[in-house]
Amino acid sequence: MKVGIIGSGGREHAICESLRKSNKIDEIFCFPGNAGTADIAKNVNIDLENFDKIKEFVLDNKIDLIVIGPEKPLVEGLVDYLKKFQVKVFGPNKIASQLEGSKIFTKKLCEKFNIPTAKFGIFKNNEDSIKFLKKTKYPVVIKADNLASGKGVYICDNIDQAQIAVKEIFEGKFGVADNLLIEEFLKGEEMSFFTIHDGKNFKCFGTAQDHKRVLEGDKGKNTGGMGAYSPSRLINKEIKEKIINKIIKPTLKGLSEIGTQYSGFLYSGLMIVNNEPYLIEYNVRMGDPECQTILPKLKTDLFDIFNACCDQNLNKVNIEWLNKKSICVVVCSKGYPENFKKNIEINNLGKMKLDNYNHLFHAGTKIENKKVYAIGGRVLNFVSLSDNFADAKNNIINNISELSWTGGFYRKDIGYKVINR
Ligand code: AMP
Ligand code: GLY
Repeated sequence: MKVGIIGSGGREHAICESLRKSNKIDEIFCFPGNAGTADIAKNVNIDLENFDKIKEFVLDNKIDLIVIGPEKPLVEGLVDYLKKFQVKVFGPNKIASQLEGSKIFTKKLCEKFNIPTAKFGIFKNNEDSIKFLKKTKYPVVIKADNLASGKGVYICDNIDQAQIAVKEIFEGKFGVADNLLIEEFLKGEEMSFFTIHDGKNFKCFGTAQDHKRVLEGDKGKNTGGMGAYSPSRLINKEIKEKIINKIIKPTLKGLSEIGTQYSGFLYSGLMIVNNEPYLIEYNVRMGDPECQTILPKLKTDLFDIFNACCDQNLNKVNIEWLNKKSICVVVCSKGYPENFKKNIEINNLGKMKLDNYNHLFHAGTKIENKKVYAIGGRVLNFVSLSDNFADAKNNIINNISELSWTGGFYRKDIGYKVINR
């Protein structure tokens, strides 16, 4: 079989690596991939906005299955487009992808189906927003409605900060904004909860906790994710049942009422408040870097799982996991999430101690004349699995210390909530 993976991050490298273990796969393509996927797959440099070109390549090369990693092509309808040409695709369709593409779509669904979430209001202009913000309690959360790659969310402590947020959103900092959302601030601890769906059936696909802020102690600007650990320390049987019954099932019911189904990974971003889950956001894909902590624990053939999802018989697959703790630390270019230098060579990648439990997944890298260069903000993902989080973390630190890359930095405290207990 031939499989194609759309995307170029650590998540996609981890997916490639899992698929490589399947004895059913003859060839993997990655669109466009990175220096890490180049070791496993054939990297294909096609602009991901050019659906036509992607389709031509898939048909010309007789690729049997396409897996879409990131949200943008999903929200833009790549699944629907490829299916028109009888291509087998793993991922949600355009309508279902509104769960991530429009925060207002999700909030309205929550309202209709009583899904626990922060109280909210939708505002169409500056004046009405400010009128409300002058009399509300703080902190308050202000969000752009668009896909904003983890940005576009402001946590404001006072009216002055709120005014800046409203102005920036309506001025189009995150794309054209017809609406914004003002939400109650939920005080609790976050958890990423993953499920995998085939349109009829779904199964749980692990939990993790992400560290979104750039600085140690969870301070500083929001990023795509500086590291993660899995499982989340918050998960237990009772919470899991609440999440499934109060959040996932009503969401699927809501989608079926508008005439669609969910297929692919679903990432529920939750705030756990006094042992009760609240939905903060949905993402219609695996998390990055959560995916890098979860997939190395998977024992079942990932190709079989994807294939079963496309054929709507996920209920026939038993998904098995290694009973290990896993951590991922992301090494970033200095300056991220603001400006950073590109095209800096990274040496010593060959010195890493890598095996079934210790992985190095590339993100923003490219390979040229056998040399690896950093070209993105998040560059390398070091992952380790062990019987406890402390050992996993030590293995990662040992590997990172071999790295000769003065242009990089990482958070040394990833997993502090599960290690310093
Ligand atoms: P989002 O893009 O909606 O996931 O928001 C980004 C981050 O902002 C989340 O991961 C939370 O840390 C924080 N956040 C978003 N909404 C809320 C809320 N209602 N209460 C508290 N924190 C929030
Ligand atoms: N780790 C956060 C995300 O994938 O959106």
